[in-house]
Amino acid sequence: MTTLADAWGINESQFWLRGVRPDQPVANDSAAGIWNVYGYPEALEALSDPATFSSATQRLVPEASGFREGNIVQMDPPEHNKLRKLVSHAFTPKVVAGLEPRIAALTNELLDAVSDRTELVRDLAYPLPVIVIAELLGVPSSDRGLFKKWVDAMFETSSQVSLKDRSKEQEEYLAKALDQVQELTKYLGEHVAERRRAPREDLLSKLVLAEVDGARLRDAEVVNFGMVLLIAGHITTTMLLGNTVLCLDAHPEQFAKVRADRSLVPSAIEESLRFFSPFAAVSRVTNREVEFGGQRIPADEMLLLWVAAANRDPRQFTAPDVFDISRDPNPHIGFGRGIHFCLGAPLARLEGRIALNILLDRFPNLRTDPAEGPEFIPSPTMTGVRKLPLLV
Ligand code: HEM
Repeated sequence: MTTLADAWGINESQFWLRGVRPDQPVANDSAAGIWNVYGYPEALEALSDPATFSSATQRLVPEASGFREGNIVQMDPPEHNKLRKLVSHAFTPKVVAGLEPRIAALTNELLDAVSDRTELVRDLAYPLPVIVIAELLGVPSSDRGLFKKWVDAMFETSSQVSLKDRSKEQEEYLAKALDQVQELTKYLGEHVAERRRAPREDLLSKLVLAEVDGARLRDAEVVNFGMVLLIAGHITTTMLLGNTVLCLDAHPEQFAKVRADRSLVPSAIEESLRFFSPFAAVSRVTNREVEFGGQRIPADEMLLLWVAAANRDPRQFTAPDVFDISRDPNPHIGFGRGIHFCLGAPLARLEGRIALNILLDRFPNLRTDPAEGPEFIPSPTMTGVRKLPLLV
């Protein structure tokens, strides 16, 4: 059977998108020095036990150690709790809800430039989230061409993650990705220094002024946290917007329902997050030897938790390979689970809801271009369009 993943040429290694089930829920890839976790209950177990499954995976990739301080994604308790609490104060549901009018205005402004065809990623799905997150942080959104250059290069690889015997291509990719991190660090460092001198009303200023246990964050911590937000805050949402339109277009009867009843937009977005999870894998490292998913895993081993595969686990989801916007409940783990649950989930959902509604209002006949198919990000740990030509 030809699946959508085949038809669209999505990265071959993402076998779960092709209706193929893994032989084991947890499998060792000894060549790469990595354990792949594909099962839903197993992924959930690892996400729920940070004492055993640590997020500080950079200790196995020494080259990346400069990006440690303030990098919330890499932190374990108790350090993680402190930063998360602090950031949650600056990034409240009220702050996110308050962005609604701006997101709607931006979406309309961006779509004003569209006539009979659009490349959705270029025209809306990329610029919308990047402008929103840049404005929230307080860096000029007109610099988004620079962010794109830096961030694209960080994900421009089709090779598998490996801790062993990296190929020349993998070495070159890693070196280039780290160069981009450095440029972004320098850029954000200049903005942080400026906010220290003259705070404004933006998130960078709030982070500069914030206190954890009576101590202020250091510049490097604010810079790295800002970098996490800038990167996590847009590439994934870009994919979410494109993937949702693509999934609906591929399922016309469901698209018709959503067009007729906009209260279905949020559940269409959730199903898109399950069916084509943008952030396909998150990583963890074992703090001790552990019996897990039928395997005995030693301490200090790297695990990739394939949330995208877990979201297709038939032990959790009936007919997992069917895109069904009426799925209820839909406990997908596309935003992760547990203490690291995506901090930006409310923002991503809000952007998705507003953008999809406005798109459908303005272009009721929106459809894919039969002459030009979508293009996907080559990285095996991402599932998402980077080009989506549409007729409007
Ligand atoms: C964490 C996915 C949008 C900021 C995560 C995690 C996932 C995820 C899977 C868990 C990582 C882990 O457990 O190691 C997504 C997806 C998005 C999205 C699929 C869009 C569709 C955003 C946005 C922001 C954001 C818009 C910021 C504005 C973060 C941060 C964390 C995180 C800061 C780390 C939280 C922590 O470590 O406590 N995200 N994300 N994400 N996300 Fe998102």
